Amino acid sequence: MPSLKNNRFLKAIWGEPIDATPVWVMRQAGRYLPEYRASRAKAGSFMALCKTPELACEVTLQPLRRFNLDASIIFSDILTIPDAMGLGLEFIEGKGPFFTNPLRSKEDIKRLRVPDLDSLKYVYDAIRLVRHELNGSVPLIGFCGSPWTLAAYMVEGQSQPGFPKLERLREEDPALLHNLLDILAQSVCAHLNAQIEAGAQAVMLFDTWGGMLDTKNYETFSFAYVQKIIAGLKRNYNDNKIPVILFTKGGSRWLELMAGSGCDMLGLDWEISLEEARARVGKQVALQGNMNPACLLEAPAAIRTEVQRVMASFGKGSGHVFNLGHGITPDVPPENVAVLVEAVHEFSKPYHGE
Ligand code: CP3
Repeated sequence: MPSLKNNRFLKAIWGEPIDATPVWVMRQAGRYLPEYRASRAKAGSFMALCKTPELACEVTLQPLRRFNLDASIIFSDILTIPDAMGLGLEFIEGKGPFFTNPLRSKEDIKRLRVPDLDSLKYVYDAIRLVRHELNGSVPLIGFCGSPWTLAAYMVEGQSQPGFPKLERLREEDPALLHNLLDILAQSVCAHLNAQIEAGAQAVMLFDTWGGMLDTKNYETFSFAYVQKIIAGLKRNYNDNKIPVILFTKGGSRWLELMAGSGCDMLGLDWEISLEEARARVGKQVALQGNMNPACLLEAPAAIRTEVQRVMASFGKGSGHVFNLGHGITPDVPPENVAVLVEAVHEFSKPYHGE
């Protein structure tokens, strides 16, 4: 294992003894932090922030300066891959991501190629900078979106409830959709491996929209590609074992299947209790999650109670990384994140040791 000053996160994933449960927060660098909003204003746009390694490094480190977090995650976005493929990513205030050249025809899809990794060099440069600045304090997580989730935005052009254009493509031309998913799987695998080479000490796959599928279609259109990606990752790099985290929003129906994907930890939303998840996957994988992000809008006492409930649900021993069940929302007061992080460390002590 790499020599880190705080190694709780990696140890928890490998099920090794720890003194307290590690915690980090999905979207920990984001709009709920005034210093993030200032950096974003300075950059001019979300994409400029992503593409300027010094600024991406700065916002990655912002939450770590405020809170006693046990892991960092590189500031970037899952949609940088489609952007590098020429789809032209923009973020419209209040509307979310938007592609100026979405996939509108068979030809658009047939024309796609795995992007030259040079066009994503800004991500690797940011990772190298963050590793330098962290100086071994906590590990750095790299990430990508799953092919299904990326295809959802690429075909739709933007976030749209139910992703109707994607669903139509899946029903009318599944072979063409498989072409797209295959190119994306190759791209994701290459991008994650390049992040590992740049210094990412764990990698996470976000399958935000996998849960919209029924079981058969999930296996065919999402899981099959996730499995392929995991099989192609550099799991041993420079004598370090690089763990893989798989997060499928709405995927608790498929825990056993996902646990067999080759990943080392499953990220869970709050649909399922950690107790049930642990009973179903045993020691096969570690578990990450799963407090409802809405709890962070409550009073400190309520947050502490919820932290204790989530921890009691997992129970004693290593194998749990505390997190939210989805990203933190922009309306959360930053002080409440401090309450969460301190509560996890404080209340988890009895769950570890003799
Ligand atoms: O967790 C982190 O701190 C690392 C950075 C990170 C971002 N996006 C930064 C971001 C990560 C891991 C992501 C992943 C991501 N991006 C996912 C998967 C996780 C999930 O939330 O389900 C998805 C689906 C995306 C696509 C995306 N990017 C959407 C839908 C949006 C708009 C959401 C919103 O809240 O408006 C983004 C923008 C985005 N990505 C922001 C941040 C901090 C907010 C952008 C802003 O500054 O306006």
